[in-house]
Amino acid sequence: MPARRRLSRELADDLIGTRPAAAEPTITEATVAVDDDGAPVFAYLPAGEPQEVMALRRAVLRIRCEALSRAKGALNISRNFGFTPRRPVYGREGCQIGRLAAESPQEHRVLERWALLLERTLDQIDPSIVARDAQTMTQVDSSWRLGGGRLWTSGVINRSSALPYHRDRFNFSTWSAMPVLRRGIRGGYLALPEWGEVIACRDGWTLFFVGRQHVHGVTPMRTVQPDGYRFSVVFYALRGMKDCLSAAVETAYARQRRSQRERAMAARLAAGQPMLP
Ligand SMILES: [Fe+2]
Repeated sequence: MPARRRLSRELADDLIGTRPAAAEPTITEATVAVDDDGAPVFAYLPAGEPQEVMALRRAVLRIRCEALSRAKGALNISRNFGFTPRRPVYGREGCQIGRLAAESPQEHRVLERWALLLERTLDQIDPSIVARDAQTMTQVDSSWRLGGGRLWTSGVINRSSALPYHRDRFNFSTWSAMPVLRRGIRGGYLALPEWGEVIACRDGWTLFFVGRQHVHGVTPMRTVQPDGYRFSVVFYALRGMKDCLSAAVETAYARQRRSQRERAMAARLAAGQPMLP
């Protein structure tokens, strides 16, 4: 399907932070959208056999999501998975696997399996996408690839979150994959205003696109069953992982940084000096 640009990048920038209006989906069938230069813009199709979708649903429903209050008072309920970069201000001295892997190992393994499944699907859609993105990802040490694949380092599960328009500015400019699981809920479509398209995000279907490149947001949603839900499970490549050394070196580095800090704190205590935050 040809994709026509409706909005320049600059005009799309003005939408960032605003919320998509309710709209009916324009893309409801399996689609690979291609721009005027023949470059793919997004792909939307069912990925994974029914039993794999069932395993993903079961895993996602079991994972504990956390409420994060965002700017403007909107609540986003989500859970990160995969690898996380160094964040010394949060006491994360090294790159590491996120907490979910230890908290829900079985469910995390399902997500890792899906990383490979989605990579294979993307490769079937257009092998040149995977070849180019895998080349970009050689900037990140191979210990930080979800499921031992080539493309993604990390991901997030969003629970019924009508995210405002944004670009994924913490990611590499590589393709992300977003399977959606939903029951008893209306709306929650993915709007791509630069292309004038609204993707239906059907249960068990996956949307692929470069989230850093194209402005995107989620239309309002409304449950029509008491236990209705919409989960989007986004697989992506975090640019912060570029600065990570190999997993073995990171673990040693983190241990060394922690003990350095503990020694410094002990010294301050011994000298009767106030503790630094
Ligand atoms: Fe995003």
